[in-house]
Amino acid sequence: MPRHRSTSDPTPPCYAMVFPGLESIAAQEIVQDLRAEVKKTEEGIVIFRAPEINSRLLQLRTVEDVFLFAWGTDELTYRAADLERIRRWTDRQADWAQLLRIHHAIRPKPKGKPSFRIVVQMSGKHGYRRVDARKALAEGLAGKLPPSWRYAEENASVEFWLTINNATAVCGLRLSDRSMRHRAYKKEHAPASLRPTIAAAMVRLAELKPLHTILDPMCGVGTILAEILAVPTRYAVPPLVLGGDVSMSVLRAAGINLRRLGKAHLLRWDATALPLADESIDRIVCNPPFGKQLASPEQIPELYRGLIHESNRVLRTGGRAVILAGDARTIKESAAKVGWKPLRQLRVRVLGMPAAITVWKKE
Ligand SMILES: C[S@@+](CC[C@H](N)C(=O)[O-])C[C@H]1O[C@@H](n2cnc3c(N)ncnc32)[C@H](O)[C@@H]1O
Repeated sequence: MPRHRSTSDPTPPCYAMVFPGLESIAAQEIVQDLRAEVKKTEEGIVIFRAPEINSRLLQLRTVEDVFLFAWGTDELTYRAADLERIRRWTDRQADWAQLLRIHHAIRPKPKGKPSFRIVVQMSGKHGYRRVDARKALAEGLAGKLPPSWRYAEENASVEFWLTINNATAVCGLRLSDRSMRHRAYKKEHAPASLRPTIAAAMVRLAELKPLHTILDPMCGVGTILAEILAVPTRYAVPPLVLGGDVSMSVLRAAGINLRRLGKAHLLRWDATALPLADESIDRIVCNPPFGKQLASPEQIPELYRGLIHESNRVLRTGGRAVILAGDARTIKESAAKVGWKPLRQLRVRVLGMPAAITVWKKE
């Protein structure tokens, strides 16, 4: 990783924090939507250089947060000597004045006294504590901000972040806020409701085309459907969006979440016996329940088999299915039984459990 950049760079690199497992999808979105060049991908991090740094960075859907890159390394030693490097790199290897200028252009300073916050995340076994790394970062930042700026844990105008992941560290200024990953549409939640960035990644993997009909047969509070409707400009003709669930209460919540986004047809149904014609659907994107979400987890294999069998009936030949499930083995066995071709698999952890997003084509 380039430890620092030349101070004459007109646009500094940026990095995005990504839900682990989704790095390749996020990198694809960054390249396609921002015309950016991806420099490096690490677990949970994508470093890139965009031709322009503007508010379009905040419209990315598969990333959790976006930052201006100050410095980075993949050569941490795990020893306390790293602390002096963190202090020195923060002090000397970043053009903080330029980064702050770009930050203020995208996120204007709120009225009143400007405030700042320091956030340090650390994983891996290091010979120092997170507070020590934080202190080193704070020492490196000394004199970089006007003395009138005050420290604030809440609603700070500027956030300095250092993320240490084993031998890798990235340091920068956060451009996004919590609204990037928590989506304004999500008014109603359910315990099993999907993280929006994962739903967005699944929608990308589905590769929707104009005039497609897309179905989430177990839509819960509608996160996958929302991620389709939330970016209408991506499609020349908006897709026909269908969703349903066995539970009336989550369907009501889905109706509320989707109300302002566009038209989705919602129905109460059993996903293993859908009231839909054979070969009528182009794309299925679905996140069936995980074992621990059902009263009796032993029902999962049967439910998954029924879901795939019925999905195969309604899916057009050439259609795709994108499925996030904990029990990927049953999904694979059922998909093999109906003759679906595997296209891709991404491993993720959902609700603390290993899971996989699998992508299939009906041939
Ligand atoms: C993991 S949740 C889906 C979460 C959804 N993606 C969201 O973001 O809210 C699984 C959903 O499957 C529904 N479900 C379970 N069995 C079903 C069945 N046989 N037919 C339709 N829906 C079912 C549950 O009610 C639950 O809402």
